[in-house]
Amino acid sequence: MSQRQRRILVTSALPYANGSIHLGHLLEHIQTDIWVRFQRLRGNVCYSVCADDAHGTPVMLKAQELGITPEEMVAKTRAEHHQDLLDFYVEYNNYYVTHSQENKELCELIYKRLDEKGYISKRAINQLYDPEKQMFLPDRFVKGTCPKCGAEDQNGDSCDVCGATYSPTELKNPRSVVSGAEPVMKESEHYFFDLPQFEGMLKTWINSGVVQKEMANKFNEWFEQGLQQWDISRDAPYFGFEIPGAPNKFFYVWVDAPVGYMASFKNYCDTNGIDGDFFWNTGNDSELYHFIGKDISYFHCLFWPAMLEGAGFRKPTAVNIHGFVTVNGAKMSKSRGTFIKARTYLDHLNPEYLRYYYASKLNDSVADIDLNLPDLAQKVNADLVGKVVNIASRCAGFITKKFDGKLSDNIENPELLKAFQKAEDEIAYCFEDRHYHKAIREIMGLADRANQYIDAQAPWVTIKDADKQAFTHDVCSMGIHLFRILMIYLTPVLPKLSEQAQAFLNDDFTWAGAQDIKLGHEINKFKAMISRVDVEKIEAMVEASKENLKETPSKAPQALDAPHTDNASPLASDPISETIEFDDFAKVDLRVVKIVHAESVEKADKLLRLELDLGGETRQVFAGIKSAYDPADLIGKHTVMVANLAPRKMRFGMSEGMVLAAGPGGSDLYILNPDDGAVPGMRVK
Ligand code: 2FM
Ligand code: ZN
Repeated sequence: MSQRQRRILVTSALPYANGSIHLGHLLEHIQTDIWVRFQRLRGNVCYSVCADDAHGTPVMLKAQELGITPEEMVAKTRAEHHQDLLDFYVEYNNYYVTHSQENKELCELIYKRLDEKGYISKRAINQLYDPEKQMFLPDRFVKGTCPKCGAEDQNGDSCDVCGATYSPTELKNPRSVVSGAEPVMKESEHYFFDLPQFEGMLKTWINSGVVQKEMANKFNEWFEQGLQQWDISRDAPYFGFEIPGAPNKFFYVWVDAPVGYMASFKNYCDTNGIDGDFFWNTGNDSELYHFIGKDISYFHCLFWPAMLEGAGFRKPTAVNIHGFVTVNGAKMSKSRGTFIKARTYLDHLNPEYLRYYYASKLNDSVADIDLNLPDLAQKVNADLVGKVVNIASRCAGFITKKFDGKLSDNIENPELLKAFQKAEDEIAYCFEDRHYHKAIREIMGLADRANQYIDAQAPWVTIKDADKQAFTHDVCSMGIHLFRILMIYLTPVLPKLSEQAQAFLNDDFTWAGAQDIKLGHEINKFKAMISRVDVEKIEAMVEASKENLKETPSKAPQALDAPHTDNASPLASDPISETIEFDDFAKVDLRVVKIVHAESVEKADKLLRLELDLGGETRQVFAGIKSAYDPADLIGKHTVMVANLAPRKMRFGMSEGMVLAAGPGGSDLYILNPDDGAVPGMRVK
């Protein structure tokens, strides 16, 4: 079925050049890469670009800290990021950097056009200034006491303890994170982009299907609150591009970052003789897609399309927004070893495991995606090793040894083959619309059918029967045809495995090739293609990701399960302890949990072993409450645990947190039991 060849440009958000790429970034890069590979396999022209996001205060300060120039730091980080991505088989046509000549010129061009059309204005504003470091301070570089609740050491824009938002000038006892000096107020002139002038256009655009419905609803709420002028300048010292005609004023990093998409593409087009303008001009059928996380949707769906429109460029065809990654049901955590860098993963595991797992979970919604490591192992082992590759390994040996490495000239089961070929449309639709999880479900359903077919025909039995040689040849060939079609469908997700399959099948996959059938085709000797996930390697990866964060002596609520010892004595009803600061208390992450299993620990007088459901994640905790509870009575109850306590190895196993209880001890001991309505995972405040 021939289709019009589409011309598409795709981008992923540009990683900042001051930190490593981690598994959170990879969700997006893998999502993008699958989509791009799918388009190319379909025969469309699909370019993809990315780059390092080089500018801004954090990059500048990090370079200073390292004693190198920002340019040097950015070059090094860019190279690392690029290699990390390549090693996950994420291949952009160009992986550039925003600190480039192309980007500078494009920023200047866009700015000039916006200015000429009256979208830029200037006015003086007051901001906190570090008199020692002689620089203005972005909100996150000011800390102080919350003006609402008095919590110390809060960020310049919001309080982690009471949730209040405020301006940094409202903080009590403010100090510069950079030098520790007390900031002073200082006036300076800033440049503003007149976003409100684009309100009508943006409303229409956002509601025309360019973002997911749930995001359009969010934007409509923001429209109701009204759009504000956007401050696009920053004063020196700043690592960025100077604004033309405005010495010592620089474009705010979020101005030149999206222009970086254009610049990266321009750099690629100029080197390869491609007409790049076609993809940014209005009035043609080129398509432009940005893949981003929900946290940066404001920039991509309001500021960026307004800048494009104002400067006479086309707006994106769609902005594809995804949610965040949680690992094992919780936010990625450095102490728990779930803040996993791309390189640490690569040091332990095959990148295609992650590609497959993410694909099996991804859809077009902005809901967060949980990377459950035991589930990853289970899925990869069951699906890729146990189902897909198994089909080839069950059939290939006979073809090579008994039939000269040639597939037969007959189709043993035309109906089954037809079903595999017919699934193409549905699977293509799933990739196109980013319902990757459905595509995987569909493909694995077919893999099950292929295995059932082979089980039923049992070629390892018929091969022994001299009269059934032709039949066995047909059956094994059928298995290989089915494997080939599955691998075509999986190619966008598993490019390396697909490459191995193509070498084995002596073939060059295209999407349309699923409709061909390779009768009498010569194949190569089957070689192992993918190994089972070794759970010990997952454990080693988590271990290697654990950072020993500085232990702050925390006066947390006392807890009874005390993983320090297996016979921790219950609390006496003792006097109130010494006062602690609110923010010390706030470090303790208390969560509602459900006790899903409880049992006595045989060799410990006071311990019960509990399994606690934290809302998707299960934790094991040893609690010193045996004297008060029959384990059977606890199962199904809700209670409260300290969820961010570093796990401790005990004689009987790991204790991964603490449950809270009150009482003098013995049988007079009570676990906290929240009211109905509290559900596992809820934070206790
Ligand atoms: O949020 C971020 O990580 C930014 N560096 C993304 C920039 S995307 C684009 F606009 F350049
Ligand atoms: Zn507060």
